[in-house]
Amino acid sequence: MAIWKKFHKDGIPEYLARNYWWAYVWSFGIWFWDHQPIVNMILFGNYRKLINATVARYRKLKPQNTLQISGVYGRITPELALELKDNDFHLVDITNGQLVSARKKLAAQKETEKFAGNLSRMNAENMAYPDNSFDSVLIFFLLHELPPDVRKTILAEAVRVVKPGGSIIVTEYGERTKTHFFHTFFLSRWILGYFEPFVPAFIAENLTDNLNESAKTVNKEIEHIDTKIIFRGFYRNAEFKVK
Ligand SMILES: C[S@@+](CC[C@H](N)C(=O)[O-])C[C@H]1O[C@@H](n2cnc3c(N)ncnc32)[C@H](O)[C@@H]1O
Repeated sequence: MAIWKKFHKDGIPEYLARNYWWAYVWSFGIWFWDHQPIVNMILFGNYRKLINATVARYRKLKPQNTLQISGVYGRITPELALELKDNDFHLVDITNGQLVSARKKLAAQKETEKFAGNLSRMNAENMAYPDNSFDSVLIFFLLHELPPDVRKTILAEAVRVVKPGGSIIVTEYGERTKTHFFHTFFLSRWILGYFEPFVPAFIAENLTDNLNESAKTVNKEIEHIDTKIIFRGFYRNAEFKVK
């Protein structure tokens, strides 16, 4: 039996078990990858810039309640929660191991330990939150790991749970450029597509269009506010308003 099939149980979606069991479902993998130097290396030294750009959005927006859709290695969750310490912060993920890890990070900071109980195991394709529950949703490096149909569903769910006037913040790979070395050099393109099979389709698409398409299914609209380009376009941090 293929190894990934051992991880395809307890509600773990097939795309996650098949492509990322070694990163997000296997407990040793979660421990191994969740080290700042490793995460920073995977992001070519840009992790601090990506965290800072994301937290800066929240410093400006000051949402009363925020949902992070899916856990992430490293410091984004504890640092964002610290920024939001006077308000409310929630996180959902489909794997228990990622929730345990995020819970430990929040509990380790006095100001954010109260949020440890706000972490829920949910499939982001079908979240239990009512419509218009949050002022803001953060999606940090999740979209490129999803098959296109799941990506559309999760984007629609994100829009559904954000109140009109609220925001969606996406930190992700940038759209494919004609000039970035990693987008043009065949070997880097091959490596990226091999380890991250959904990246080529994701970076070929326009995120604002995709969000708007998903928003229509929940009778809302999206306005693109601003995109900060990081590492000459290989990464981005974008803000959208839900209407
Ligand atoms: C945010 S992404 C990857 C982030 C980035 N590569 C990092 O540095 O960690 C990975 C997370 O998404 C979660 N995930 C994937 N599909 C999901 C879904 N349908 N619902 C909820 N969480 C999901 C995985 O369990 C995993 O914890």
